[in-house]
Amino acid sequence: MVLYQQVAEQLAEHIRTGVFAEGERIPSIRKLHQQWGVSQSTALAALSALEAQGLIEARPRSGFYVKALPERLQVEEHVPAPVAVSRHQLINHVLNQSRQPGLMHLGAAVPEAVFLPQEILRRISNRCLREQPGLITDYAFPPGNKVLRQQIAVRMQAAGCSVSASELLITQGCQEALSLCLRVLARPGDLIAIESPAYHGLLQALEALGLQALEIPCDPARGMDLEALAAAIQEWPVKACVVSANFSNPTGSLMPDEHKQRLVNMLSEAQIPLVEDDTYADLHYGRRQPLPLKAWDREGNVLYCSAFSKTIAPGFRVGWVAGGRYHQPLQQLLTVTTMASHALSQQVMAEYLHSGDYDRHLRKVRRQYRQQLHNLVDALHASGLPVAWSLPQGGFLLWLILPAEVDALAVYEQMLQKGISVMPGSLFSASERFRHCMRISIAVSQPDWSLLVAALRGSLTD
Ligand SMILES: Cc1ncc(COP(=O)(O)O)c(C=O)c1O
Repeated sequence: MVLYQQVAEQLAEHIRTGVFAEGERIPSIRKLHQQWGVSQSTALAALSALEAQGLIEARPRSGFYVKALPERLQVEEHVPAPVAVSRHQLINHVLNQSRQPGLMHLGAAVPEAVFLPQEILRRISNRCLREQPGLITDYAFPPGNKVLRQQIAVRMQAAGCSVSASELLITQGCQEALSLCLRVLARPGDLIAIESPAYHGLLQALEALGLQALEIPCDPARGMDLEALAAAIQEWPVKACVVSANFSNPTGSLMPDEHKQRLVNMLSEAQIPLVEDDTYADLHYGRRQPLPLKAWDREGNVLYCSAFSKTIAPGFRVGWVAGGRYHQPLQQLLTVTTMASHALSQQVMAEYLHSGDYDRHLRKVRRQYRQQLHNLVDALHASGLPVAWSLPQGGFLLWLILPAEVDALAVYEQMLQKGISVMPGSLFSASERFRHCMRISIAVSQPDWSLLVAALRGSLTD
């Protein structure tokens, strides 16, 4: 994060936690310069960023004041009743439309090829095929390629988890890992607590398995509201909880460490298994990788799922699950469902990780995503459109909040006509929420954000 963002984030934190109350004046540019030791231009950039997020407002000749949080940015306080999920048709319709060639692809959360290490993967694949021809004919039975599991275990240990290769199962992407966990933990009709908004693939998995969603309100910056979760597990017989604490999809929220610890402890005490989806963690903009929930797991209650789909190769379908005390039933289920997966992609992934290129690649794409995000935020800011947005500290997704009366599904259709695909917000809820929101992927090469702004302006003023 660059300095002005750090200052903005600190001030935002003070606003969220009530250090600066609604209507209160916040430190002026001069005070920030004197007391926080930042230049006046950094202070101004930080205050402008907060103004763009709708957190503060400038009053002529007086300074900046904390705004009443607009209704559309507030975290809902009540927990809705559980609902059966039926989003499959809508989600498939949008996903199919958004894959059309020739569009500016801001919809699907799939990085364009320029953000993936294609060349080195091609070289390793060719070498593997030459040296180990069996890789295209052999089964790769669970638990999966041993060297790959060792490489993943080393990375997970570096991220604060005490996990060994023997506790990992290789899956076909994170989607299979999530789906296996849900099938091991719950039966049709059971309640699963999820983030609201939640990743649409999770909603589809719940629907396919006949599970009900209990949507727990989430803050676009800090993730799940733990008070709401605590109330929900008191009131409802929750079978499992699925959380993406590091750069959630769609908002990019990052849960603070104290909340992570509290969440893990709360669910462990309540004996509710916690499924962690850590797909985006490697894409942090800050210096250090944020800790996963699994780092606080002492009892094997966290089923950690992830994949290399967002960082190395979505098409390789290499993901994994560290299932804690559910490792055995997960392995059994994997054996009778998928039975085996691709030996070649697992071997190439193992060799790629072993090559040491991954961290260099990550440093590069993190820089690129951060820059693209800045450019988009600057364009939105300059546009003067009546929209608010999340300010993710990692990943490549931005959550855009339109005025409450706007139907983002209609905006989505209009934008598609103008050659731009985005993801309408209602795909991320089982209960018709977020109709006025949309998700934008910034993992596109050389995006012209003025086209997006013009299309948005057209749709919002139609
Ligand atoms: C949060 C999240 N979890 C899981 C997945 C599925 O990933 P995979 O392609 O590895 O199955 C995605 C893909 O968009 C995602 O965004």
